Amino acid sequence: MSSKVPLLSTITNYIYRRKGKQVRPLLVFLSAGMNGSIGESTFVAAGMIELLHTATLIHDDVVDEANERRGSFSINALWRSKIAVLVGDFLLSKGLLLAIETNEFELLRNMSNAVKEMSEGELLQIERSRKMNIDEETYFDIIHKKTATLIASCLVNGAVSVGAEQANVERMYEFGVNLGLAFQIKDDIFDYQAKGALGKPTGNDIKENKLTLPLIHALSNADRSTRKAILSKLRKSKRSQKAVEEVIQFANEYGGIDYATQKMNEYKDKAIAALESFPESIYRDALVDMANFVVNRKK
Ligand code: IPE
Ligand code: IPE
Ligand code: MG
Ligand code: MG
Repeated sequence: MSSKVPLLSTITNYIYRRKGKQVRPLLVFLSAGMNGSIGESTFVAAGMIELLHTATLIHDDVVDEANERRGSFSINALWRSKIAVLVGDFLLSKGLLLAIETNEFELLRNMSNAVKEMSEGELLQIERSRKMNIDEETYFDIIHKKTATLIASCLVNGAVSVGAEQANVERMYEFGVNLGLAFQIKDDIFDYQAKGALGKPTGNDIKENKLTLPLIHALSNADRSTRKAILSKLRKSKRSQKAVEEVIQFANEYGGIDYATQKMNEYKDKAIAALESFPESIYRDALVDMANFVVNRKK
């Protein structure tokens, strides 16, 4: 991440000192360990994925106008959006270069695809948020693209890095996609909860008019006039904290949070089921623990 450009090196240093949970590299290593013996390629995959993930978070905070990330100010909050866009580009290209410099072309293809999907997911979300017409099917399409593809590629690349056979790579994909869906549903539920130790803003999806699973489901349970009233509060929510709170209360009362929690657990169970055919190992146990962590985590 280092650079001779002073501004860039100040910012990468700031980023480096604020690590996230590092869930994705952990998944790479666990998948590699379960499928063979961890080697140099595994490290490349793990490093590259966390770089790309970090780049997309920097861009995401510009897109979402969020001024907090990992318990500190976001890059756009401290240095403005122009700079955040460019720093995100820098990290993204560093991630891709890592694979090129080590001749890891399979890895490069999987990751480039994940980044492409992510951009499509983010744009689809913006388009639909403007019109405020997201149904459950579109929601799943969005979160599949913006989150589950990258998480699935952690598992796939971990397995590929140790030369796993195709059938096992496919099972790892199955685990990863379902885990990724559960991961994003959990993230979307966070937005409806008190801020606590999360380290990023809550209520932000509502302010950005983003319809996520809790609200989509609650709206489908409401009659026409209630629905209209809530959509109008949603439109006001950027300026009014009271409107945000009313939307949160509505999502709770109309069963949106319960429903999202139930769906999240279904995907978590599906993920765990994909591990069943692998022989018992410390890696398999740890992947099951990771699945449980994803749905129980506090940040
Ligand atoms: C946040 O990812 C972005 C989503 C896909 C929901 P993480 O929750 O893994 O973020 P960090 O890396 O731990 O900060
Ligand atoms: C996660 O999106 C970022 C990407 C998958 C690109 P969100 O906007 O839902 O995530 P947070 O809550 O800001 O981390
Ligand atoms: Mg965001
Ligand atoms: Mg976003």
